[in-house]
Amino acid sequence: MIQYHETTKTFHLSNGKLSYLIKLLPNGQPGQLYFGKAIRDNENFDHLLEMNPRSMTAYLTEGDNRFSLDHVKQEYPSYGRTDFRRPAVEVRQPNGSRIVDLAYVSHTIAPGKPRLEGLPATYCEDGREAETLTLHLQDRLLGLAVDLSYTLFAGHAAVARSVRFINNGTLDLHLTTAMSLSLDLPDSDYEFVHFSGAWARERHMKVRRLEQGIQSVGSARGTSSHNHNPFILLRRPGTDEARGEAIGFSLVYSGNFLAQVEVDNWDVARVTMGIDPFGFDWKLAPGEAFQTPEAVLVYSGEGMGAMSRTYHALYRSRLARGEWRDKPRPILLNNWEATYFDFDEDKLAAIAETARDDGVELFVLDDGWFGARSDDHAGLGDWQANTSRLARGIAGIAERIDALGMKFGLWFEPEMVNKDSDLYRAHPDWIIQTPGRSASHGRNQYVLDLSRPEVVDNLYGQMSKILSGAKVSYIKWDMNRCITEAFSSALPADRQGELFHRYILGVYALYERLTAAFPHILFESCASGGGRFDPGLLYYAPQGWASDDSDAVERMKIQYGTSFCYPLSSIGAHVSAVPNHQVYRNTPIATRANVAYFGTFGYELDPNRLTPEEREQVRGQIRFMKEYREVLQFGDFYRLRSPFESNFLSWMVVSPDRRTALVGWYKILNEVNGPYRRVRLQGLDPALCYQIDGGAGHFGDELMNVGLLTTDSAAGESDPTRASCDFDSRIYVLKA
Ligand code: DGJ
Repeated sequence: MIQYHETTKTFHLSNGKLSYLIKLLPNGQPGQLYFGKAIRDNENFDHLLEMNPRSMTAYLTEGDNRFSLDHVKQEYPSYGRTDFRRPAVEVRQPNGSRIVDLAYVSHTIAPGKPRLEGLPATYCEDGREAETLTLHLQDRLLGLAVDLSYTLFAGHAAVARSVRFINNGTLDLHLTTAMSLSLDLPDSDYEFVHFSGAWARERHMKVRRLEQGIQSVGSARGTSSHNHNPFILLRRPGTDEARGEAIGFSLVYSGNFLAQVEVDNWDVARVTMGIDPFGFDWKLAPGEAFQTPEAVLVYSGEGMGAMSRTYHALYRSRLARGEWRDKPRPILLNNWEATYFDFDEDKLAAIAETARDDGVELFVLDDGWFGARSDDHAGLGDWQANTSRLARGIAGIAERIDALGMKFGLWFEPEMVNKDSDLYRAHPDWIIQTPGRSASHGRNQYVLDLSRPEVVDNLYGQMSKILSGAKVSYIKWDMNRCITEAFSSALPADRQGELFHRYILGVYALYERLTAAFPHILFESCASGGGRFDPGLLYYAPQGWASDDSDAVERMKIQYGTSFCYPLSSIGAHVSAVPNHQVYRNTPIATRANVAYFGTFGYELDPNRLTPEEREQVRGQIRFMKEYREVLQFGDFYRLRSPFESNFLSWMVVSPDRRTALVGWYKILNEVNGPYRRVRLQGLDPALCYQIDGGAGHFGDELMNVGLLTTDSAAGESDPTRASCDFDSRIYVLKA
């Protein structure tokens, strides 16, 4: 898949789905000629290296008025040697200089994909699935080696990029910018799409036109955050779900990040993505190495839908790992919105028993089971059962759940501590705080310094003791505040700029140890809902709680936005009680389930408070999910109508053999005397005839071109099959 043409010093990465052309420039630096739809190979693409003299341009070599990095597209640009745009790399040197000059030394092309030490990354299970190009570069003055790595996957229109730095010199160097990727696109005729929001309204889709200057999203909160997601896409104007060009950029990382597009004076759009350089300062002493996180580029010439399905397939099966990767997810009931902190063993068992009778498979005990916790002021850090609530400890409640024939799951918030805890009293210096300044709190809690191995060891010791002493099948790993006053008492002054990244490495190390020691446990990540919903955590936890907002209408936007990069098997989605606890809205229980089916599915309520009719519905929902979860979680997902653009949402999944499909159709507010409506389906086999809900048959080509009729009867008319109300929804089951 990866060709090297020695005569023209050109690399062509192509798998029939995309082409990526890299050429060594006259100064030895790798330049970029093309990224996009697959093209035929050619020995010589030199004509793509446009170098016309321009006024106000600086040139690298005396006597040459053509070669300037100001207008040449590059693979890993630095600032100040004729390029004035924001760089991918910047290194502070002992003499104060920040100029870097990287030139090609050699390269390797090898089957497969090497693992990234200590970091989550996509992988392959056999060497034929991917090929990796590594460009070995060097700054001769500094003795700094830089390896640019490109993995092309055989079956996916995707390239994974990352960078490794090695200080082979004698100077102490400081990496102040070390991005994971840079891509110079030759024009700026794109829309910049990002997924931003806040707590309880995560990953709302936002679209901007690119303009000359810098546009970016990122996080400096210590987590990838509720506010922005480490995923953006650029699309040509007019691109929709099924047509047009879209390029996705996704960072496999859970901490501070930057995703930036700089459009220059010649309309080149430079995309850079990686750890946010703001506040980042990594000391690279002689002999030391630094590995950036991985960024995954996806190309689609068939709209945003195809781009998403590439991410879904890759992240579902070659980023997520472990026993649960390919398994349909258990239907769970989580007690948080059912009880909050007000529970004991009997109350939990009563909820679990009813849930079991209705078909729920996994009971999850959320916050409040440990230490001196009776509200959110105490207990974090002390991971032993609170015996005033759970007299027989975790083993006792776990046995009781097991006796009901259910699996048992447990909540942890390992990274945090309350001052009212034995852990804090024993180790007050283990929290992140700046000497001489007060430590800010969030939710009355403080962040443990996970950059310190002894902190990770302590947490591993406490958690593994609980997990070894009771039958636990699932962990919800929460994280409920941002990092303030970032400073580690274990790091010297010239390494304080490493703390945010070292913290995340500590989180990954703890996840790695726990998932290795307890491979049967299903991990679900969470950070006050979707505050750390990113590919980095998918490597350890194949599912994540998408948002603390469990309202069905709010979830339509949150899950729709999330689906641009993340597979449905990763999107934690539950049916909760009404009035909803976040927005106080009443929605039909059918609609709550119809939204949650397009995720991992579960309940976040007390089933004993439901009416007999509602319980009957719940039983039907669980039967339905058990029948179709394989298709829902592992099928191909298509977005049909956006809740960001209209009063409607529609989406569908299709089984890999295209014989079964489920269409979700949702109306937010009811309307009077509305238009006659159809929704055009996607992904079906045009030649197969599909029975809809066991009724009439329609060929796939009709359903995809004419559409599925979804017209409601007008308000006021009575049509029991189409009774219409606010927050109405339907699921259509199509079978070939
Ligand atoms: C925030 C999570 O998102 C909730 O689901 C719940 O686990 C609470 N924390 C518990 O404190």
